[in-house]
Amino acid sequence: MFRNLPPLLPDRPDLEALAREMIEPQPTGEEDPVADNPDIPAGFTYVGQFVDHDLTFDTLSQLQQDNDPDALVDFRTPRFDLDSIYGRGPDDQPFLYEDDGVHLLIGRNKAGEDDLPRNVKGRALLGDARNDENLIISGLTLGVLKYHNRVVDTPPLAGLAPVRRFDEARRIVRWHYQWAVIHDFLARLVGTEVIEDILHPVSFKVPAGTSSKTIKTLAVLPRFFHWRSRPFMPVEFSVGAYRFGHSMVRGEYELNDQVQNIPIFAKPPEEDLRGFRELPAGHSIQWALFFQFEGSKLTPQPSRKIDTKLSFGLNILPENVAAGIHALAERDLKRGRALGLPSGQAIARTIGLPEDLILHAADLKPLPDHLIQVFGESTPLFFYVLKEAEKISGGRRLGPTGGRIVAEVFIGLLRADPSSYLNTEPTWQPKAGKFGARKDGEFTITDLLRFARVRID
Ligand code: HEM
Repeated sequence: MFRNLPPLLPDRPDLEALAREMIEPQPTGEEDPVADNPDIPAGFTYVGQFVDHDLTFDTLSQLQQDNDPDALVDFRTPRFDLDSIYGRGPDDQPFLYEDDGVHLLIGRNKAGEDDLPRNVKGRALLGDARNDENLIISGLTLGVLKYHNRVVDTPPLAGLAPVRRFDEARRIVRWHYQWAVIHDFLARLVGTEVIEDILHPVSFKVPAGTSSKTIKTLAVLPRFFHWRSRPFMPVEFSVGAYRFGHSMVRGEYELNDQVQNIPIFAKPPEEDLRGFRELPAGHSIQWALFFQFEGSKLTPQPSRKIDTKLSFGLNILPENVAAGIHALAERDLKRGRALGLPSGQAIARTIGLPEDLILHAADLKPLPDHLIQVFGESTPLFFYVLKEAEKISGGRRLGPTGGRIVAEVFIGLLRADPSSYLNTEPTWQPKAGKFGARKDGEFTITDLLRFARVRID
């Protein structure tokens, strides 16, 4: 995205020292509420992870060596097309589908509770295996599978021939999901003004009888994310800015009224929320503990602030989540180096930010002096995006550099996708009473989950 900028190549021991400064203490009971983000309920962290798995999958780059970003292959399509759910469709990956080739498979655990579909080894059958990495992302993924199945069974789709029924349902699911990603998720991260600045309301005139009619539509006006023939996944997004979600992960979660204060990851034999296994009995999620549902008496847990601290569990990831290096912050920082990302300050200047919106050495306090010396004026992008969110937005949403990258890439990719609503029918809006939307022009993650008939409270 910012090809002309030089890579930042700090010494690895300095990155390791920086990563060690990014770990929250091990939780003991209640988490410190000062680091909670009152504006973003905890469920949106996993919407973020779900979106990541829809857009990007790097299986090629090596942590310990320099890699050429142009040689990377994104093993997901850089589109909001839910390939992480549908795979390549019922003809090519029939093991994700019921025999009718229309419904997605849903599984059950031994206790008879709904779970992801699994093979005899307990491995989830999914378009993207990472959607079973922890019990919360598994539950959210199950919600999307159920949403698809409910759409399929809703008239007029229920009456169509199988192939049309599937194609039409997938289109409807994708468009509603895309709407929620932009207007419910991205809006919380960057604010609606930034979205409107990129997804710009415009109008044009058409002849209509003897006079003319004004048509209102949307034009996409990215300033920094451009591509020639095909849109791509910028490393500044996948290896830098969009990893901000790692800092939103709580140390512990309440799943339901029985299962409370469980760490996201802990050292066995302590119980945790790790995935890649059948849903343990009694662990199905009450979603009103993760999102604000109108009419529910439950209060959702907040996500953690977008800041330079990651929860303790992310420092001791299991081997099947992160082989070799188990500390996520260290992986994020080393991946940034391995892919030659520019510093946060260099990008902020290219964006044209004024000096008072660019971080300097003093802003990196309370890091130890030697790290401030090394990183003060050229900070690794991942750390920079988190620090500016903390300093400029109080940790409640992204800052000017991270927010601009994330918003431009989201909207740019949506515009580039030949089958997205924004490309095929830019004035499309969810309609009240249809597929979970409660008002015209409004569709949220909670609408999706409610329509999917998951457990709410
Ligand atoms: C419990 C929650 C999460 C865990 C355990 C987790 C774990 C991981 C791990 C192990 C990697 C690979 C790191 C590497 O080797 O470079 C990764 C990559 C990534 N994560 Fe997360 N993550 C979580 C949540 C999130 C969230 C909430 C977001 C965003 C909102 C996110 C965004 C990303 C992105 C963009 C990548 C790079 C993906 C790629 O290019 O293949 N993650 N995560």
